[in-house]
Amino acid sequence: MRALAGLALLPLFCLFAADEPAAKRPTGDVERGKIVFENICGECHEAYSREEKVGPGLQGIKNGQLPTGRKATHDRLLDIVNDGPAEMPKLKDRLTEQEKEDVIAFVLTL
Ligand code: HEC
Repeated sequence: MRALAGLALLPLFCLFAADEPAAKRPTGDVERGKIVFENICGECHEAYSREEKVGPGLQGIKNGQLPTGRKATHDRLLDIVNDGPAEMPKLKDRLTEQEKEDVIAFVLTL
């Protein structure tokens, strides 16, 4: 009987479990993100111009477009930071989830 009750609760549990990652995502902080940017991204990217360094200058992202012309969204920036397109290194394991959210919040103000 108890096992049956457990089974009945399972779908409910899964519903909550599936919701968790988004709910748990830390909130980005622009000021802290600026520091992350200066420490890591700034080696390869200008923040306040479009000039090419190692990678493209990132100024203008707040207008909704990445340097390649793709739409600038939070999730796409997270993919870029994690998996690095083309020549950009993967930073997935170099930054904490909090640092990623912070730097994305900053980049979205450029
Ligand atoms: C070692 C150099 C390097 C570092 C460090 C680096 N990038 Fe990049 N990044 C690049 C290069 C090179 C490209 C261009 C990739 C390509 O060829 O499309 C790029 C591309 C990008 C783009 C543009 C993607 C697009 O679709 O237009 C964004 C946004 C970006 N990087 C953000 C970041 C952020 C944020 C960080 C820090 C967390 C970072 N990068 C760290 C080298 C770097």
